[in-house]
Parts: sequence; structure tokens; C-alpha cells
Amino acid sequence: MRLCIVYETRRGSTERVAREMAHAAGDEADVALFRASQGPDIGNFDLVIVGSPIYYERPLGGVIEFIRSNNGLKGKSVALFILCIADKFGRFGKAYSERRYMRLIEEHIRGGIIARKVFNGWIMKEDPETLEEARRWVKRVLKTYRDGGIIEGVEH
Ligand SMILES: Cc1cc2nc3c(=O)[nH]c(=O)nc-3n(C[C@H](O)[C@H](O)[C@H](O)COP(=O)(O)O)c2cc1C
Repeated sequence: MRLCIVYETRRGSTERVAREMAHAAGDEADVALFRASQGPDIGNFDLVIVGSPIYYERPLGGVIEFIRSNNGLKGKSVALFILCIADKFGRFGKAYSERRYMRLIEEHIRGGIIARKVFNGWIMKEDPETLEEARRWVKRVLKTYRDGGIIEGVEH
């Protein structure tokens, strides 16, 4: 199966997480990794994973632009992830902020969302737990895709 991971980043942590996913998925799938601003052609991929960090309560515009310019990823299986530090930045409490952030991406998706994940981002020091979670999550996403199922809800 062919997996495409598309992300945007400002300070590198989302790229680090996306690379970790690509590496972990590599033994089970043909994986391509793109920055959203590269405007990848996703026509040939079965499953698209899209990731964005949150800045000032919003996902990055480049990710939304990528989704919109590809017809909301209609016809694709889609898994979404965000990186954020909602307990520091969220005005409404961590869980509520994370759901709001995720919805801001989700509302543009016209494909079938099979998984969503909120990762703890970082500002200075890389978080090894986030990288470990990223490796585990992508493997679950692949399994879910193969089984034709859905990972429900926003996970923490
Ligand atoms: C200027 C700035 C604004 C941020 N705003 C938010 C925010 O509104 N909500 C949140 O949960 N995290 C916020 N964060 C945390 C980032 O989402 C987190 O550091 C993320 O890992 C950055 O991803 P990147 O390294 O891929 O750019 C902010 C970080 C910075 C530096």
C-alpha cells in the first residue's frame, strides 16, 4: 500500500515527528513524505496522513491550502495529527482546545477520516515520548487502514 505523509512546520518539530512516522511505516508501506508547501500530487496514494502544528490557536495555513487544493482529499483515507502545547496556550482548557484545533483541520476534509491524534509538541527540547508515540500511532493507523476500521475520537 502507498502512504503519503504531508506536514507543515515552522520550527521543525512537526517535521521531526513526520519523519519518525515515515521511518516507522517504511517496513509496512511505500511511504512518501512531503512538506505541504511542496504541493505534492497525492493521486497515487491510498492513505494520506496530514500533520500541522498549532500557532496562535490555528493550524498552519499551508496545510489548509494543501487540503483545499486537493478537493478536501475526497476519495482518500485520511489520518490527521496536530502538535500543540494546549495546556500552555489553550484559553479554554487542554482537552477543549485540542478538539477545537483538530476541528479546524477536519472541517476541510472531504475524505474518510480513519484516525486523529494530538501530540505534545515542543518549543526547545525534543520530546522523545512524542517520537515514540508517533512511531506507535502510525503503525496503528496502517493496521486500521488495512482492517478497514476507524480509530474513534480525538486521542490524547
Ligand atoms: C509563537 C508560538 C505560538 C504557539 N501557539 C500555540 C497555540 O496557540 N496553542 C498551542 O497549543 N500551542 C501553541 N504553540 C506550540 C506549538 O504548537 C508547538 O511548539 C509545536 O511543536 C510547534 O511545531 P513546529 O516546531 O513544527 O513549528 C505555539 C508555539 C509558538 C512558538
